[in-house]
Amino acid sequence: VYNRNLPDSVLAFHSNLPFHKGMKMVYIWAVLDIFEKHMPDEKADPEWFGLKNAKIYIRRDDLNHPEIQGNKLHKLKYYIREFYQNNHDGIISFGGAWSNHVAALAAACRMFKMPVTCIIRGERPGTLSDTLKDALTNGVQLHFIGRTAYRNEPENHTGDFYVNPLIIPEGGCGEHGIKGCTEILGTSSDKYRDYICSAGTGTMALGLIRSLAAGSRLHVVPAIKGKGELYATLSNESSVYGIDLFYHDTFHRGGYAKADVQLLNFIRTYYQNSGILLDPVYTGKLFMAIPDLYSTGYLQNKSKVWLYHSGGIQGVRGYETIKDLQIEHVRKHTL
Ligand SMILES: Cc1ncc(COP(=O)(O)O)c(C=O)c1O
Repeated sequence: VYNRNLPDSVLAFHSNLPFHKGMKMVYIWAVLDIFEKHMPDEKADPEWFGLKNAKIYIRRDDLNHPEIQGNKLHKLKYYIREFYQNNHDGIISFGGAWSNHVAALAAACRMFKMPVTCIIRGERPGTLSDTLKDALTNGVQLHFIGRTAYRNEPENHTGDFYVNPLIIPEGGCGEHGIKGCTEILGTSSDKYRDYICSAGTGTMALGLIRSLAAGSRLHVVPAIKGKGELYATLSNESSVYGIDLFYHDTFHRGGYAKADVQLLNFIRTYYQNSGILLDPVYTGKLFMAIPDLYSTGYLQNKSKVWLYHSGGIQGVRGYETIKDLQIEHVRKHTL
């Protein structure tokens, strides 16, 4: 169940009570800290991966919060603090129709009473995605811009929404996002030999690199095609922090957000066997890569492996053939 450790008073606080800027920072902080209780590293049954003796432990950040979920809880923390500390009167951020970042920010907008405008990639469609419908319900103002303009300079479209806006880059990246991600590992930072995570912008991987014990092996499975800038950035940072980086760039299955039948079947079977739901954009590709990492010798049975489930469950709704899994998952895990 989500947030097993949350006292009722905090849940009540989030659902009912008014929340405004005058509220003491320390109180906001206490609430965020409760959300940051580390989820357990759960021992996986090697059979879920078609393996026999692997020692894989999954960090279940898919269960850290139903809405500000997975790495988003970490990425948004310092942005929310900045909003209150520097007296911003609104937040502007960016994303696509099924963006996990937009979904998480929208929930934060409602819970922390922060005015939020999201610049959305593409023309406004006739029917909004579930993610964008939820964002509207949560009080987010949506502003659609064409794909070319979005790609070239989305920041030019931040308009006159607010007098003193806090701009959060797409996906919650930037220094505040990285800083939050340095808090993902907690006491697990030196307990494993191999650490494995996915990557989009690389913010989360940078946070892990900065907080892992020197000498750790970090395997990054990017959700995007090609090596490019992301690899260069992670590789530089790894050498500064003494981390052994392995960048596995052959598991994107055609590119960002592309999902083929094999991937969708893998997600369904994995869910049936383990009860753990993966999303097709990040964690599905990541978990599907695991057997290959063993067969190619990057991972070995004798080594203890930490595997990061970074959340993103809401995005499953964007894939018609596995949408039912998301509905079942939410029913099972929400009180
Ligand atoms: C569920 C999920 N996992 C992984 C990632 C990749 O994180 P990053 O962009 O920090 O590399 C994202 C994107 O932010 C995400 O939404």
